[in-house]
Amino acid sequence: MSIIKAPRGTRDIWGEEIYLWHKLEEVVRLLASSFQYQEIRTPIFESTELFARGVGEATDIVQKEMYTFPDKGGRSLTLRPEGTAPVMRAYLEHGLNITNPRVKWFYMGPMFRYERPQAGRMRQFHQFGFEAIGYSQPACDAEIILIAWLVSKKLGLENLSLEINSLGCNQCREEYIKVLQDFLGKEGKNLCANCRTRAEKNPLRVLDCKEETCQEVFRSSAFPVVQDFLCGECERHQETLEEILRELDIPFSLNPYLVRGLDYYTRTAFEVKTGELGAQDAIAGGGRYDNLSSALGGPPVPGVGFAAGMERIILLMSKKYEPSSLAEQPLFYLAPLDIPGEGALLQLASSLGERAIPFYLEFADKGIKYHLRKAQKMGVGTVIMAGGEEGEKGEFIWKDMSSGEQRSMSKEELLARLGEERRSAEDS
Ligand code: HAM
Repeated sequence: MSIIKAPRGTRDIWGEEIYLWHKLEEVVRLLASSFQYQEIRTPIFESTELFARGVGEATDIVQKEMYTFPDKGGRSLTLRPEGTAPVMRAYLEHGLNITNPRVKWFYMGPMFRYERPQAGRMRQFHQFGFEAIGYSQPACDAEIILIAWLVSKKLGLENLSLEINSLGCNQCREEYIKVLQDFLGKEGKNLCANCRTRAEKNPLRVLDCKEETCQEVFRSSAFPVVQDFLCGECERHQETLEEILRELDIPFSLNPYLVRGLDYYTRTAFEVKTGELGAQDAIAGGGRYDNLSSALGGPPVPGVGFAAGMERIILLMSKKYEPSSLAEQPLFYLAPLDIPGEGALLQLASSLGERAIPFYLEFADKGIKYHLRKAQKMGVGTVIMAGGEEGEKGEFIWKDMSSGEQRSMSKEELLARLGEERRSAEDS
């Protein structure tokens, strides 16, 4: 019988890589607490309708990429492909638009999209996201971009660029889409087959196409760009955001082709890109979604946010950090010499655990040679042994791995010594 493997597009996160995840999660939580974004945990699956209405029927996500299934009660459920629609659902469901209309939330967790897997593109992947709901100010767009930028900065990621665009409001976008659709209609023969279909169903998505023939169409001087269609208010919103970003010293470029893969965006859209991951170059993306609440049956509520792909950030971190350097090293290796020694060391483990002192406990089925070799391999400075003759006297053996010295000590002496070692490890 062959062994069972993890499904295509999913993977186990384990071994030393986990230290990179802990570091990333720590930085996200630190920033969330600094900016006072509260954590929200929404369900892994939601009604399919939430994404159909929220993300948009005509998007690739809804058309091709969702893990949708009926449950035993005949309801259509979908593993969440993203976090913004669920967060807005929670906001409306809990009546926050009435009781507490301005909320700042963050989340972290797995998302699911049926995509063709490759480096940095998974079927189960992880995002962290920040959402500010109830805020319409361009300064709030800037706060969101600042957080995305600071995460990268705190992780020391380099070679990143920020691209921004405005997709306008309902009015100016409608006008733009009409002109764009007209233009694409005339250029039909020069577009790829995919774009010819998109031009009818979801014309903005055409701008995402990487095919050279389509790119040529976009480069033509007659190609209509959304910036030329922004109404006065959308233009002011965009200018204010740009001004604040310049004041914050966050470098950005305007990309009029940046449309994003979800239908809920209005005005600001942005992406943080890396030059180090090939085709999967977006490590974070977001923007304003002033229509999302209404699309979900709620009143008009503005909102802005972003989500970042954690696997992609981990790939960048793995080029920069030695994962083991992020691990917490055990200070002590506990080596029982016999069965009574196991009991004595478990009592010691209980005291160490209560004090949250890191240690590694082995068992007496292995001999002293094994223990010392393993302690050395782990880079542990002190081995504490229990059992044998010393054990009968209620004593432990303390072995300093660097000098090789060892001596017996009582439990009281040992506990006092452990505290000293802990303090000196913290000071160093
Ligand atoms: P998104 O651009 O679809 O936006 O995803 C955000 C980030 O998730 C991407 O930039 C990428 O880093 C990562 N990502 C997406 N798909 C995959 C995948 N298959 N494998 C690995 N990483 C992936 C959203 O999801 C919006 N909810 C962002 C947002 C929040 N907008 C406003 N608020």
